[in-house]
Amino acid sequence: AISAVRAWEALDSRGKPTVGCEVRLEGGARGETTVPSGASTGRHEARELRDGGIRYGGQGVRGAVSAVSGELFGAVRGLDATAQSSVDQALRSADGTTDLGRLGANAILAVSVATALAAADARGLPLYRAVADDDATPLLPLPMVNIISGGAHAGRAIDVQDFLAVPVGARSFAEALEWCSRVRAATADVLTARGTSPALVADEGGLGPVLPTNRAALDLLTAGIERARLRPGDDIGIAIDVAATQFFTGDRYRLAAEDRDLTAHELIDELAGWCDHYPIVSIEDALAEDDWTGWRDATQRLAGRQLLGDDLFVTDLARLDRGVRGQVANAVLVKPNQTGTLTAARAVVRHAQDNGYTTVLSARSGETEDNWLADLAVGWRTGQIKVGSITRSERTAKWNRLLRLETELGEDADYAGATALRASAR
Ligand code: PGA
Ligand code: ZN
Repeated sequence: AISAVRAWEALDSRGKPTVGCEVRLEGGARGETTVPSGASTGRHEARELRDGGIRYGGQGVRGAVSAVSGELFGAVRGLDATAQSSVDQALRSADGTTDLGRLGANAILAVSVATALAAADARGLPLYRAVADDDATPLLPLPMVNIISGGAHAGRAIDVQDFLAVPVGARSFAEALEWCSRVRAATADVLTARGTSPALVADEGGLGPVLPTNRAALDLLTAGIERARLRPGDDIGIAIDVAATQFFTGDRYRLAAEDRDLTAHELIDELAGWCDHYPIVSIEDALAEDDWTGWRDATQRLAGRQLLGDDLFVTDLARLDRGVRGQVANAVLVKPNQTGTLTAARAVVRHAQDNGYTTVLSARSGETEDNWLADLAVGWRTGQIKVGSITRSERTAKWNRLLRLETELGEDADYAGATALRASAR
């Protein structure tokens, strides 16, 4: 049973305050986490609680910290930590709002995750086992690795937010990561050879060059793949996170670097053109978060690729279900902090899997040194994971956990590989 919940103000990888939390159980088991935070957040995400005022430019989380040690502790005190859904339900009811904005989704997720870790500790299980269905084989995910960054994570040097490497030809997780590391290094070399400094990195550790067009970034990534002596398409596919909500002006999509304003239809044409020239296997947030009509169009016209909803679905079961019923997108990005509890995130993964939507578990641009996201991917069998670049410790914390699990589990785990994309490519 939960006997103590403590919290403190910590920092995320952008140096912005976030909530740290420890849950203790009777008997001595414990769990501790520091939760992540996004920058290109969707309008429909669960709400973080921020203090306002002058400390940390208004971004302090002392209020959320008090909510954890006060009201939220009160709500879960004495509950069985291994009953995650009851704990999460108690947290949600204590808040009482749908967006969790009263006590803060950052406060609630901290307790939810620390509880899961404490429960695993009490059972003497690694987290990936504790969160898995009884008979489920652990599944190492296909990684999606950020190589070039734009959008809100790189001072909007390019409109599209992420250009990622997807090592579709690799036969193991370790090989997949080695290929991505090579692509990253080779892409930096291409920049140097062209006389551009690759020194500037973005929020998720991706290269942040200033380029004239989005196509120039696709060219650069393709050149990087080739320079790494890998085959574009066969070895490494390309994924993009358009993060279109960020440059939707209300009726047009504004590509600032190219000084073009596009309708949804024209943006889809543009994306289709990129797909003809580059080995694009996955497109995230092709349209804005509430452009359901544009999204439905994109789902038809860009079929054969993974069409991934992030700001569109915001890890929300009702929004995902609307997508499933309306044949909008074919994949969902799952960020636990968009929805506030592990139970809610788990339900989204299940609903997607039950309906043939592929799932990509995702970190945030503001991350922490925690590695539980890796365990969730393996235990929940999400098939894919996206945690930013291959550099910076808040990113490698997750990659390193997966590398260790693959070595440790050997034959007892499966590696998803490119099959993780297949359901959405039908
Ligand atoms: P965010 O970015 O964490 O800043 O929202 C990640 C993403 O858009 O996938
Ligand atoms: Zn995104």
